[in-house]
Amino acid sequence: MKKWLLVSIISVFALVLTACGGNDDKASSASGGSEYTAEKPLVIKFSHVTSIESVKGKAAEQFAKLVSEKTEGKVKVEVYPSSQLYGDNDELDALMSGNVHMIAPSVTKMVKLDPRWQFVDMPFLFENQEHVHAFFNSDLAKDLMNSDQLAANDIKGLVFWENGFKHFSNNKHPLVTIEDYKGLKFRAQAGKVLEAQFHALNAGSATIAFGETYAALQQGTVDGQENTYNNFDTQKYQEVQKYFSNTAHGRLDYAIFVNKTFWEKIPADLLAQVEAALEESTTLAWELAGEENEKSFENIKNSGTVEVYEMSQEERDALKAALQPVYDEFGEVITAELIDGINALK
Ligand code: LMR
Repeated sequence: MKKWLLVSIISVFALVLTACGGNDDKASSASGGSEYTAEKPLVIKFSHVTSIESVKGKAAEQFAKLVSEKTEGKVKVEVYPSSQLYGDNDELDALMSGNVHMIAPSVTKMVKLDPRWQFVDMPFLFENQEHVHAFFNSDLAKDLMNSDQLAANDIKGLVFWENGFKHFSNNKHPLVTIEDYKGLKFRAQAGKVLEAQFHALNAGSATIAFGETYAALQQGTVDGQENTYNNFDTQKYQEVQKYFSNTAHGRLDYAIFVNKTFWEKIPADLLAQVEAALEESTTLAWELAGEENEKSFENIKNSGTVEVYEMSQEERDALKAALQPVYDEFGEVITAELIDGINALK
């Protein structure tokens, strides 16, 4: 056979081989087969900022355990809690660049990509846990998860995980009337809506990463903060805050976000098991949220270091009225679709 003919035949053969199996990731994904084993697992790095004892910390550990069981060790979820790997200031960037594959931020922190995620901060928007669940199960929630803004940043939104209602605390005096907030400085998570909330109460605010908040309260950089019972308790704010009022003025909930490119390359058979594990952990997260927050409220009341003021309905109504300017200023940003839509789920 002529040399040129032999070379041509070999080249065509090589091309066909490449087309059939050139891209390892895609090939395994399409075939449903997997090159991963318990000895050489696919590693999903999951970073979050709360403690291992928190609602989110427990649900994340459970997810890792279930994934390992369901995939017989072929997929390993490495959970990095307590801002060990990335904190509030860099976890989103780390996700977009693929340095971490999964995060579960408090959704208001997504304001960096899309201001609508601040819906959780709209004062007294959610009535109770059932209302929150109705939202999580709604098309409104699905639309947010599937938004173009996320996809454009290589992010895929999967599910909501619950935490709870936020309450105010501080170091100066009990917070009962609107006047009590005047001149105090509070730690805020992120975004203009929270800034406006404190402004409406004649208070100041500073955006401080969750991992740095204990120190900021201890050192007096800020006088107070707002968070769920469970975050307050598992961060041991009892040690650095004196007065707590159960205002329940806003929400703090999470969404599970993954790096889209990474996620879509997980072989189909393994992905189905990982998704099943996520569904079970989500059920757990929703159950845990109520229970753990109640336990934490008891811990705060029994701490002996914090004076807890239990708000009356009239006092909450006064707080709600004082926070109305937040709706005037941000109603359009959050969108009528979301605000009216959430109200309609009551
Ligand atoms: C906060 O910054 O207060 C929360 O986002 C922390 C968390 O993730 O629960």
